[in-house]
Amino acid sequence: MQLSVFPQRGDLMRAAAERVTAHAARAIEARGRFDWALAGGKTPEELYRLLAGAPYSSRIDWTRVHFFWSDERCVPPDHADSNYRMARESLLEHVRPPDEHVHRLRGELPPRLEASRYEAELAGGSARSDTSPVPRLDLILLGMGADGHTASLFPGTAAVSEQRRWVTASQIEGHEIARLSCTLPLINAAASVLFLVAGADKAPTLARVASEDPRDEPLPAQLVRPTAGELEWLVDADAAALL
Ligand code: 6PG
Repeated sequence: MQLSVFPQRGDLMRAAAERVTAHAARAIEARGRFDWALAGGKTPEELYRLLAGAPYSSRIDWTRVHFFWSDERCVPPDHADSNYRMARESLLEHVRPPDEHVHRLRGELPPRLEASRYEAELAGGSARSDTSPVPRLDLILLGMGADGHTASLFPGTAAVSEQRRWVTASQIEGHEIARLSCTLPLINAAASVLFLVAGADKAPTLARVASEDPRDEPLPAQLVRPTAGELEWLVDADAAALL
């Protein structure tokens, strides 16, 4: 497991911003565009705010960035729980990519229909590998919940074992709002996946993920293993406390 620990949260965020900048430069140089799937959650929000200001706001060619989402709550785009709203307020309205580069998951539409529509949107834009029909995003940013979920793939739910679909809709027990999520086949087809994990509440789960003990039922975050891409974990010292 390629994992880097940063003593302070600020160091973690700067390292993540550097990774995003490097991935963007590489993809834009190679293909003229950078296909990036954003995550929801408090940790990514800090990264987006950092990227929205100097020096990162001018180090990335935002006109070449295509924004996708790894998951979304089934709510309208201005709702307090919308991952799109969070990204818009923390990043997009500052760096102002062309509207047609913002490929949001439409949480206000009927979830199953939206899952299919988003698959078509993914298929329409991004690159493919020579050997697979699955869209190959340049970078998928992910967080991890204290229960080991990532994107909206929650432990023990059907979305985790989905093999065929690239995007699923599900109602998760104990969560009032339904979710749309990219699935493991799409995530594991990416050129790069970056986990950003911070906070002491994640420490026991991160220790379990890192132990890779075959006796444990794998957590969704552990099932992220790009088949022909890079995987990196950036974590802060609080999350790494039990490693
Ligand atoms: C979301 C997510 C989710 C998140 C983790 C970690 O929409 O909430 O995409 O998978 O990344 O729950 O969230 P925190 O960074 O807030 O701990």
